[in-house]
Amino acid sequence: MAVGSLADAPKDLLSEIKHLEELFTIDTAKLKEISSHFEIELEKGLSVEGGTIPMNPTWVMSYPTGHETGTYLALDMGGTNLRVCQVTLTEQKSGFDIIQSKYRMPEELKTGDAEELWEYIADCLMQFIETYYGDSTKLDKIPLGFTFSYPATQNYIDEGILQRWTKGFDIAGVEGHNVVPMFQAALARRGVPIKLSALINDTTGTLVASGYTDPKMRIGCIFGTGCNAAYMEDCGSIPKLAYMNLPPDTPMAINCEWGAFDNEHKVLPMTPYDIIIDKDSPRPGQQAFEKMIAGLYLGEIFRQIMVDLYDNNEAHIFAGQDISKLRKPYSLDSSFLSAIEEDPFENLSETLGLFQDKLNISPNLPELELIRRICELIGTRAARLSACGVAAISRKKGYQSCHVGADGTVFNKYPHFKARVAAALCEILDWPDKTDPKEEDPIEILAAEDGSGVGAALIAALTLQRVKDGNMHGILHPENFS
Ligand code: BGC
Repeated sequence: MAVGSLADAPKDLLSEIKHLEELFTIDTAKLKEISSHFEIELEKGLSVEGGTIPMNPTWVMSYPTGHETGTYLALDMGGTNLRVCQVTLTEQKSGFDIIQSKYRMPEELKTGDAEELWEYIADCLMQFIETYYGDSTKLDKIPLGFTFSYPATQNYIDEGILQRWTKGFDIAGVEGHNVVPMFQAALARRGVPIKLSALINDTTGTLVASGYTDPKMRIGCIFGTGCNAAYMEDCGSIPKLAYMNLPPDTPMAINCEWGAFDNEHKVLPMTPYDIIIDKDSPRPGQQAFEKMIAGLYLGEIFRQIMVDLYDNNEAHIFAGQDISKLRKPYSLDSSFLSAIEEDPFENLSETLGLFQDKLNISPNLPELELIRRICELIGTRAARLSACGVAAISRKKGYQSCHVGADGTVFNKYPHFKARVAAALCEILDWPDKTDPKEEDPIEILAAEDGSGVGAALIAALTLQRVKDGNMHGILHPENFS
């Protein structure tokens, strides 16, 4: 089959593509504007009045040294799976062993009843303990790091008052409440022998886990179902903690919750598709930045565009075909877009196969090329916007050169994501041209260590150690640390 190019596409499609390119392309000047505004918002979030970005202090008050030891449990309540890990931090510097089990997180639980959620989690933990530790009635309580990756106010490391659900979760009776007692009540009902040492965010876990093996790590990021970052701040730069009178140079990891950036829509170039996604989501007006970047939404942005091109425009794509499958909200996830961007064939035959299998639609060649271009536009926009956050934290902290640890399906699996973020960082921060193409970028984003497993265990270890050393700041239940 002759290889087509967009230049051969019918006129109507070409004008659609041009229009979409205008909507989704973010040039260097706009990137810089977004990133500068981001920096201001990071600062605001740390102030007493607060801002849109929550900038939650986490009571993680040091990086690991690499010499932490001990065995801990880690529980990760992710969007897709529930993961329980036994992590042993070994005598060898920065060493660890991990045993883990994954449990599916039933879809109904995400929008169901709080009690059922906690019961399910307690059951999974119990199952894990009985498998790997034996009779639970004969065990001393095991220290646990609980990765709860939603925005939570932490006046203490063993507390987490859910600010709001994100990533499509919508369980009544949890927002505004401390999730720890709910979780512990379910554990107590089943006699699960656990004491909670730390409630952590996946980004903080990523920062700490990556810092365990790489001393140049300064920022932990997740680009997955949701998106967010954490970094280490000095208490002297956190006005909202001034009342605690901590020495100004005390480190404090901040869970930025940057998904909330620009909820007031001052700088982000939202398209009509972003507006619909927000309006139809369980929390309209929240997570503006996340909804343009995170894996949960990339497929949905694409789907919205496709349906719009079929229904409303001159383009008449998929003429005469039944698009009922395409009409189902959230039926396409970011792996669908990844696969399209990865299609190695000039005639996009894999994309055709994907559309036929998943959606029962057979696009013609110009349509396939339109589809590929739309994926590129969505994926590139997500990467370039992500860079704005990384650049803002780096500038705020004066980091000229550092490593950023990143995790999540979009970072790990979405084609070209890393290179696109790196290119955008270079534009925002005006890096000079490299003399040797193999040279590292001044700020290099690298695949992180396992934040919600190893990171959670390390944070449990660091917290137990600091309590032992007499630093009781941000500890609600000292009895759990003896
Ligand atoms: C949550 C964050 C989390 C991020 C990545 C966001 O939706 O609010 O707490 O770090 O997703 O998982």
